[in-house]
Amino acid sequence: MSRELSLAEIFQLGYYWETKILLTAVRLDVFSALDGKRRTAPELAAKLGVHEPALCLLLNALVAMRLLSKEGEFYGNSSAADTHLVRHSAQYIGHLLLLHDAEWNNWGKLEETIRSGRRSVDRHVFETDPELGGNVLAVLHRIGQQSGPDFARRLQLSGPVRMLDLGGGAGTNAIAFCQVYPELTATVFDLPATLRLTEKTVKEAGLESRIALLPGDFNADALGGPYDLVLMSDILHYQTFDTNEALVKKVHGHLAPGGRLIIKDRFLDETGTGPAWTTAFAVHILVNTQQGGCYKTADAMRWMTNAGFASASELEKTAVVQGLKT
Ligand SMILES: C[S@@+](CC[C@H](N)C(=O)[O-])C[C@H]1O[C@@H](n2cnc3c(N)ncnc32)[C@H](O)[C@@H]1O
Repeated sequence: MSRELSLAEIFQLGYYWETKILLTAVRLDVFSALDGKRRTAPELAAKLGVHEPALCLLLNALVAMRLLSKEGEFYGNSSAADTHLVRHSAQYIGHLLLLHDAEWNNWGKLEETIRSGRRSVDRHVFETDPELGGNVLAVLHRIGQQSGPDFARRLQLSGPVRMLDLGGGAGTNAIAFCQVYPELTATVFDLPATLRLTEKTVKEAGLESRIALLPGDFNADALGGPYDLVLMSDILHYQTFDTNEALVKKVHGHLAPGGRLIIKDRFLDETGTGPAWTTAFAVHILVNTQQGGCYKTADAMRWMTNAGFASASELEKTAVVQGLKT
């Protein structure tokens, strides 16, 4: 059993002031205004068009949080802020923080949702703000590029595999799989608006001849094929149990005999109390989506068995499930 929390840790868990200070600084774009320069609070307030005394308090808190430094009256970025929080930096991750900020009001309705069971959002922020959605996908693509090739290798494919990356987003996985397996060709299926970004990432990777883009709604439209491998990575937690079950059945029909379906997602363990990050993610999905949910690997295996897959197994605990078609 894990040890009891201390009182200090309970206080820490209930403390969100610094979170909102950081998110607000990113929204105001304080870090870009300081890009490589040192400025006083009045200079920054004029540049950002904000109230100087209030800004000064925010800046001082950011210094205490080690995101800024202060010498005399002059503020500057820390090197981590310069790298990750200045808009034109190649490693800018602010879009992800802007997404968290856009979801702030939904979190305020958590109590109401728990009391009534009713969801407070009718559309995901990606639908209400497609530009933010595209920017977030671009950041996730950059981060995912580091883990994609290892994931591809762990599946131990060989030969001229025809892969479908369903809801493939920026094509992060399709690109990694093509890089690891020289004979593999891939189709990235996604909504037309998302594929505009995918077109760019595939071109940057020089893989236009091996990665095809197929626009559509995966619940409503035909998926092409047949395929030897279908990957569903991080798409099912936005949908209901029944929609996922129907989609897995549909995918079974698009696989060639001997084909594999790989579902990679944030699954809860059997008790529903782990992994820790995923238990909080399940609450995030509850307040920020109309009908999404976090599922268990047993659910995914059930969808596969009901769809007619000959076998269904958990390849990586709470992360990867595989179905084999005979
Ligand atoms: C969280 S992203 C996952 C992207 C990618 N699979 C990955 O693991 O990096 C979810 C993706 O599903 C796509 N998507 C959501 N609903 C869809 C639908 N009905 N039809 C096709 N794509 C959809 C979104 O556009 C987005 O690219």
